[in-house]
Amino acid sequence: MHFEVISLFPEMFNAITQSGITARALSRALYRVEVTNPRTYTQDNHKTVDDRPYGGGPGMVMLIEPLAKAIVAAKARLVANGVVPHVVHMSPRGLPLTHQKVMALRDMQGLVILASRYEGVDQRLLDTLVDEEISIGDYVLSGGELPAMVLMDAVIRQLPGALGDAESANEDSFVNGLLDYPHYTRPEDYEGLVVPEVLMSGNHAKIREWRLKQSLALTRAKRPDLLAARSLTKEEARLLKEIDAESH
Ligand code: ADE
Repeated sequence: MHFEVISLFPEMFNAITQSGITARALSRALYRVEVTNPRTYTQDNHKTVDDRPYGGGPGMVMLIEPLAKAIVAAKARLVANGVVPHVVHMSPRGLPLTHQKVMALRDMQGLVILASRYEGVDQRLLDTLVDEEISIGDYVLSGGELPAMVLMDAVIRQLPGALGDAESANEDSFVNGLLDYPHYTRPEDYEGLVVPEVLMSGNHAKIREWRLKQSLALTRAKRPDLLAARSLTKEEARLLKEIDAESH
């Protein structure tokens, strides 16, 4: 996987390259990342990257020229490495990032990610050089850097070899469209709060069923939209009935 990021704050991306699973995956050469500051493509003394909007109004708009040059150069580097570039702009206007979208992006191998600032980007850049816009949620952040890192982290952990066995097992719950079940570790009794008995039973079939039931109950309570979007196995339908019966 090869990421080309365009950002006015390249140092922010140390957060992803220097810590945790994403740092380990980089040291294993599972991905490459190059961050370009569009200021390096400006020609004036002030290295201007933004200007006032035509038509007036508050805020500044990112100039097309430095961004276009940065994106074209990033795409060329990807092509030189034999991958087809896909250009993403992080924006609250985009389609929401989901697990399914993460898997589709993981399969692309070459991503150019534009992390913009200010009120927006000249529309002509979006119309000509950006393939899609992606949002990480219905709220506005100060820039696209954190959203870009959210996307990168989610993609990187899906690269083969990025997770150990123990880590990848954790993924199952979201992959199957349900929220994760509750987790417990030592001590067995913390100031009178005890671990559910079934988890101490050693009965793996019972434990699996308890966890699935917890996932179903949590998903129904907090994210019924996730349940509505998927069909139920016979076992899941039975467990949901039990949950209903217990709550009445
Ligand atoms: N840039 C600013 N806010 C954003 C959001 N919610 N998602 C993606 N990019 C953004």
